[in-house]
Amino acid sequence: MTIERTFSIVKPDAVKRNLIGAIYQRIEAAGLQIVAAKMLHLTKEQAQGFYAEHEGKPFYDGLVEFMTSGPVTVQVLEGENAITRYRELMGKTNPEEAACGTLRADFAESMRFNSVHGSDSPTSAEREIAYFFAADEICPRTL
Ligand code: TYD
Ligand code: MG
Repeated sequence: MTIERTFSIVKPDAVKRNLIGAIYQRIEAAGLQIVAAKMLHLTKEQAQGFYAEHEGKPFYDGLVEFMTSGPVTVQVLEGENAITRYRELMGKTNPEEAACGTLRADFAESMRFNSVHGSDSPTSAEREIAYFFAADEICPRTL
């Protein structure tokens, strides 16, 4: 059994549509535990740094503009194989390709306004958690 942590964002489109609770409910119902959470309005610099891997791609500027367009919530999720399981819960980046019952199939409006973020690997999870949370802001349940 591999207990992992992953990093999650409820993006501005979902916060605006009052979907924080619905998304938290799905996360918890999937057996993942929220071990850290806060709301913030990202600065342009924070969003650019967070998505640095995509710098130079055609969608980068629009992504940064969207991610700074309103408040988001950021979370650390903990559980067995949390990284893969949360990616599966989210569904594919493009909601039109996301499987039925996934967060993006049910809540996303488009490829850009796709409601949620989740780390794609252990290396990303470690970087992304540290980008937003100090160690003493995380309240472990099982680690
Ligand atoms: P990416 O890391 O590829 O997707 P994911 O969020 O599933 O890990 O891309 C980051 C975000 O950039 C994605 O959630 C939405 C946006 N994006 C676009 O707007 N257009 C695109 O063509 C791609 C690939 C991503
Ligand atoms: Mg990604």
